[in-house]
Parts: sequence; C-alpha cells; structure tokens
Amino acid sequence: MTPPARPAPYLISIAGCLFAFWLGALAAPLAASAANLPAWAYPVNPPAGHPVADDGHAIHVPDSTVTFTRTQITNLTGPVPDWHPDEHPAMPEIVAKGRAPHVLACAYCHLPNGAGRPENASLAGLPAGYIRQELRAFQHGDRPGSEPRRLPQTLMITGAKALTEPEIEAAAAYFSSLKPASFVRVIETATVPQTRIAGWVLTPAPGAGTEAIRNRIIETPEDFERFEHRDSRTPYRVYVPRGSIQRGAALVTQTRDGGTVPACITCHGPELKGLGDVPRLAGRSPSFLMRQLTDLRSGVRQGASTDLMKPVVAHLTDADLVSLVAYLASLEP
Ligand code: HEC
Ligand code: HEC
Repeated sequence: MTPPARPAPYLISIAGCLFAFWLGALAAPLAASAANLPAWAYPVNPPAGHPVADDGHAIHVPDSTVTFTRTQITNLTGPVPDWHPDEHPAMPEIVAKGRAPHVLACAYCHLPNGAGRPENASLAGLPAGYIRQELRAFQHGDRPGSEPRRLPQTLMITGAKALTEPEIEAAAAYFSSLKPASFVRVIETATVPQTRIAGWVLTPAPGAGTEAIRNRIIETPEDFERFEHRDSRTPYRVYVPRGSIQRGAALVTQTRDGGTVPACITCHGPELKGLGDVPRLAGRSPSFLMRQLTDLRSGVRQGASTDLMKPVVAHLTDADLVSLVAYLASLEP
C-alpha cells in the first residue's frame, strides 16, 4: 500500500490558521468557565448507570419512625420523602410536590427543613425578599452557573422559569420562616480521603487511600446512604486546609481598596447571619458558597444587587476564597 501523499505546505498552513481561529473562538468562554473552576465545588456526575430496582422494602433513617420505599424516595414531583415532619411547618403544595411537568418539588432538592445539600443551597431563614429576588434572577437567566453539565442547576433554572407569582410568594414565605440548621463538621487537615463523584457530591472512593488537600475543600456526606435517602439531617464532613479558618476569620473583618469597599460583616451582619435582605453566610455549605463567590467574581452570576459584591470579590485570590468559605462553614448558622 502506498503511503498517502503529504499535503502541500500551504494546505497545512491554512489548516493551522483555521485551527488557531477555532481555538481562539473557544478560548474566551473556556477561560471564563471550566478552565479556572475549582473542580471540588462543581462536581459533575459520571453518566448514569442502571437505576436500582425497587424491591418494595421499607427504608429507614436514624431518629425517624417514618419509612419510605425507593420509588417514594426518588419521586422528584413529590410528595417528597419527609423523614422528620415535626421539624417544620406544613409545606405549601409547590414546595412538597412542585407542579408537573416543569416545576419539581423545591423540597426534593432543598429538603423539607430547607437545609439543602452541597450541590444546591440551604434556604432556611433566608429573607423572603432575597428568595424572591434570586428566583427572578434564575428566571432572567442571570444565574446560569459556570458548569453547564451540572444538572441540578439546569433543573433549578427550568423550574424557576415556570413559577407563577403566587408560587414564588408561597415558597419564599415558607423557606424564610424556617430556622436554619447546619449538619457539617469542619476539620482542618493536610491530607484527605481520595474521593469520587456520586450524586453530584464528593464521596470517599472505595478502597482508596489519602492525598494532599492542596488548596481545596472536600465536603462529603458522613453516610452516603442517608444522603441518597435524602435524610434532611444527613451529617457532612468538611475537610479544609490547615490555618484556613483563622485566615477566613481575619478576612471577613477587613475592608478593601483603601477602605472604599466595606468588610463582609458590614453588609452580611456582625455574625454573618444576614442583614435586611442581604443573605446569611454562616453555616452554609462551603461548596455552595465557593460556587457563588467564583461565579460573582467571573461575572457569570448577575442580578439586582450583585454590583455590591463585584468590588468585594474582584481582588480575592482562590486561596482567599477557600479560607473565607472554610471559616463561614464553621460558624453556627
Ligand atoms: C433539581 C433540584 C432543585 C429543585 C427542584 C429546586 N432547586 Fe433551588 N437550587 C438548586 C440549585 C442546584 C441551586 C444552587 C445553584 C448554584 O449553585 O448557584 C439552587 C438555588 C436556589 C436559590 C438561591 C439560593 C441562594 O442563596 O443563592 C433559591 C432561592 C432557590 N433555589 C429556590 C428554589 C425554590 C423556591 C424551588 C421550588 C420552586 C427550588 N429552588 C427548586 C436546585 C433545585
Ligand atoms: C457592600 C455590601 C456587601 C459586602 C461588603 C459583601 N457582600 Fe456579599 N452580598 C451582598 C449582596 C447584596 C448579595 C446578594 C447579591 C445578589 O443579589 O445576587 C451578596 C451575596 C453574597 C453571596 C452569595 C450568597 C447567596 O445566598 O447566594 C456570598 C457567598 C457572599 N455575598 C459573600 C461575601 C463575602 C465572603 C464578603 C466579604 C469578603 C462579602 N460577601 C461582602 C452584599 C455584600
């Protein structure tokens, strides 16, 4: 067989130009998104395997007398599994069941007690005005997220776009009425378990060893089964770099740009539990907080009052952000 003729040099250079052009076209959006993202805060599930069949057996979680079957636990349009019905008031229909086909039940992802999970957000006790404002931001495409493959974000956006005004009111009133709680234990360390991604979160890889934490936070459910069963009291371990909590504590009281940009505590409250319509930061998931700070810094997250945050995050480094969210996660909510 004769080898293929080598292409003429001018063809190579045209191909080279086209390739450079194609790279150039891609370079801008990539630089703003995937390339610089802290991967630990944006875990992307591997393609789904086969769903586990429901054998009808009753599933339990600790400190609850309620039981559900696997089918009931995986029902995105509700009623959502409510393991601890005594810990919250009655849920409005939109929160407990959603409105098929486009609005999934809020409490499926954010949980009936509003504690949320690392891949979404805790909503308990946020100001109703802030919840309304953010639902509008999702509706207007102002919170696309930096990682387009994150399905929970996509579903949040689709759901928000289909919400009616009375539904927004009911959901905002419900979640803002809840008392916030935190189920995380923050641990400063130099080494962490090697992890894999399942259920949109990091979880220790079976049989894997340890590795250096580097400039990362590893937030992982203590009991993956409880997490998968959507127990609203699932505890998490949050591994953070040594010294980061103290560094974060110093950063929240510092002004920036020669005093022209106020400190975090000026706007988010002296204990970072929120002030007026400015949201609580204390005791929230570090993965969630890191995504918000990253998206606010790159401009991916927009909204009615993001201009107040832009000068704050503009000059913060990735190491600053890790320290800030390590400290914030360690606080009582
Ligand atoms: C499929 C899962 C899912 C469902 C269902 C869902 N959300 Fe969300 N929600 C998310 C995710 C994911 C985020 C965080 C996006 C990010 O990281 O920026 C979020 C964020 C939010 C935020 C912003 C919180 C903040 O402090 O920034 C609000 C408010 C919110 N959701 C309200 C609701 C309401 C109300 C409903 C029901 C109508 C609902 N969500 C249903 C996944 C969901
Ligand atoms: C000048 C007032 C101001 C200062 C200072 C400020 N923030 Fe904010 N922050 C806001 C406002 C307003 C929002 C809501 C932005 C929006 O509408 O999307 C916000 C949102 C946030 C969010 C997203 C929360 C959520 O629920 O989605 C995080 C995280 C955050 N700020 C962290 C910080 C940290 C950390 C600092 C200090 C380094 C800080 N902020 C300083 C006003 C401020």
